[in-house]
Order: sequence, then structure tokens, then C-alpha cells
Amino acid sequence: MKMVQPAFIPTSDGTAAPPLSERAARKASALKELNRTVEACRNCALGSGRTQAVPGGGNPDARLVFIGEAPGANEDKQGIPFIGSAGKLLTKNLERNGISRDEIYICNIIKCRPPSNRDPLPAEIAACEGFLHRQLEIIQPKIICTLGRFAAAVLMNAPIKIMQIHGTWHEYRQIPFFISLHPSAVIYQQKNRALFEADMDALAQRYRELEGDNSTSTIEPSTSATPTT
Ligand code: URA
Repeated sequence: MKMVQPAFIPTSDGTAAPPLSERAARKASALKELNRTVEACRNCALGSGRTQAVPGGGNPDARLVFIGEAPGANEDKQGIPFIGSAGKLLTKNLERNGISRDEIYICNIIKCRPPSNRDPLPAEIAACEGFLHRQLEIIQPKIICTLGRFAAAVLMNAPIKIMQIHGTWHEYRQIPFFISLHPSAVIYQQKNRALFEADMDALAQRYRELEGDNSTSTIEPSTSATPTT
């Protein structure tokens, strides 16, 4: 069997993390290869307008994966997902529940910033969603949490009404997935704060219940999902 060199991933505070297990190192290497494809992608017009593609980031062996909508201005500049105000709000709510950004993986439905942060177009989602499915195949998380309506609609493969469906559990290829409001919904409307916090609390409760369960999940190869807005 081919030996895999221990890999290191930087923690969110920039310090060196401990060496990864062999399984995590394999996932890190597969994600790195996928990231190179994303960074070279010109499958839609967003590829020529971006500063940087934002493939995703975090723990390659995460049990919990978050899926947002699309990079914003800060993410586009730095190539890192959820580092602006929505990301800070998400991080704060995770930490309030004892979950560190270093233990999760986070990515978006589309990997390049739409101009002026407009909604992603169905064709852009269709061009990009194969990358997301591949990320999930590699990471094989125990729980997925979608943030906002675009990510939920892609995993549901159907249009959804986020204010009606957030806070509920579903399945994506036999992996439980939770639909949460997007943290930006709180930034735009403070009245959504309690709803978002309740979503994060419900998610964290299920995540804590996973502790002690070390079995791995298996995702079948991708089939494309229909993008919805
Ligand atoms: N909003 C998103 O959906 N994704 C990001 O990466 C940042 C903000």
C-alpha cells in the first residue's frame, strides 16, 4: 500500500495543527487536487470576473460540513470562505455551542463571487455544483448544514421556501442534512437573529450526539442535481 505523508493544515488562528491521520491526509490531498481544478475553472463567466476562486476550507476529515451560497467581496480577495461579517456571525454561533471552525469544513454552492453579490444564476449553479458533490464525496461528513435557500435547494434538488423549511432535517445520499437560515439573513434583518440562533443550537445538539460514533459514511458517485433559485 502506498504510504501517505502526514499532512498539516493551518488552524484558523494561523498556528500549525497536529499531523493528520492517514485517512485525513488522503482527503486533504484529494481536496487539494480538486481545488486546483476549481482555481483553473472557466465553466461560466464568473471565472473571468473573480479575483480568486474560493473552493472551500477547513478540516478535510470534518464530521460537519457547512454549505453557503457564494463568496462575497472579502472571500473573493482572500480565497477563503466565510471570513466576512456573515462568517464572523457563523463562527460566533458555533463557538457559543462549543464547535470550533478548525473542526468543520465550509464551502459554497458556487466557488466564484457573483458581481455585486447578486444571486447566483441557475446556469452558474449548474456549472459549479459538481465541485460541491465531489467535495462531499471526499470528506464524507456525518452531518451537512446548508445555509440559506440556494444551498438547501441544491441538496433538496427542488425549489424551497427557506422561511418555511429552515430548522428541519433531511437526507442527502444517506447523510443527514440540516437546513439553516443564512447568517446574512440576520445581518439584513435583526428579527431573524433568534431564528438563526435556534437553528445553530438544534444543529449543535445533533452534532454532539455524534460523539462516540466513529463509523464512516459512504457517498455514491455524483449525479447532477437541478439548480434552483
Ligand atoms: N456568504 C456565503 O454564502 N459564503 C461566503 O463564503 C461568504 C458569505
